[in-house]
Amino acid sequence: MAVGVFDSGLGGLTVLDALQKRLPEVPFVYFGDNAHAPYGVRDADDVYALTTKATERLWEAGCDLVILACNTASAAALRRMQESWLPTDKRALGVFVPLIEALTERQWGDNSPPREVAVKHVALFATPATVASRAFQRELAFRAIGVDVEAQACGGVVDAIEEGDMILAEALVRSHVDALKRKMPTPGAAILGCTHYPLMEDIFQDALGPEVKVFSQANLVAESLADYLERRPNMLGAGTESGYLTTGDPRRVSDRATQFLRRKVTFTAAW
Ligand code: DGL
Repeated sequence: MAVGVFDSGLGGLTVLDALQKRLPEVPFVYFGDNAHAPYGVRDADDVYALTTKATERLWEAGCDLVILACNTASAAALRRMQESWLPTDKRALGVFVPLIEALTERQWGDNSPPREVAVKHVALFATPATVASRAFQRELAFRAIGVDVEAQACGGVVDAIEEGDMILAEALVRSHVDALKRKMPTPGAAILGCTHYPLMEDIFQDALGPEVKVFSQANLVAESLADYLERRPNMLGAGTESGYLTTGDPRRVSDRATQFLRRKVTFTAAW
């Protein structure tokens, strides 16, 4: 009954942690494509090829349902996977929709027409590929009207986090927030549209100021998966073992993951 969780690297661990807390009885198999991170500077075909390869490895681990805990893959590859690649007995879910449902005050899966919502000015922080895809704006337009979105591509932040250089990551976050504020001085809400960014959430909040509500994905995705599995319990795959797979150096990745999650995490080689 395992569920797969995929990210280009360490960022999806922020989602995994929330999933494990919300659904402690479910074994999760995590796949970090650390050898190929960051995805945010790759083109859509490249992200699609890497994401589908990782998804196939998670099928092998007994996961019929794979959560793309990566906004870049959700933006650049998910729709194509769902429309023309996934076999009928497999599912892939992204991390965008739960976040947008929360922002637009909707219940899970409420597909009613777009309507006015409380928030009017939203700052989106994401990778260059996610920003270029405009997937966030597209999903938002299905659900809300009259929301002004200013997107800031946060080049370099994922690389710095993957390298464990948190001082550089902090400096980059502050400079990206400054750049955003020059374009939108008073956002009502800010979206952390990359699963690496919750590792820097305090810095985003501090740089944005206390009046800006910061939305990050981990708990929202966990709630929406719990709801999904209640409706579709058959999507719990045959796997019974939890595990952590990486395409990078397992020792190095384990050390970083242990540091981020503040508990021992042991990755093994994906292949
Ligand atoms: N955590 C991924 C995301 O949510 C990072 C993408 C990257 O590797 O650049 O977008």
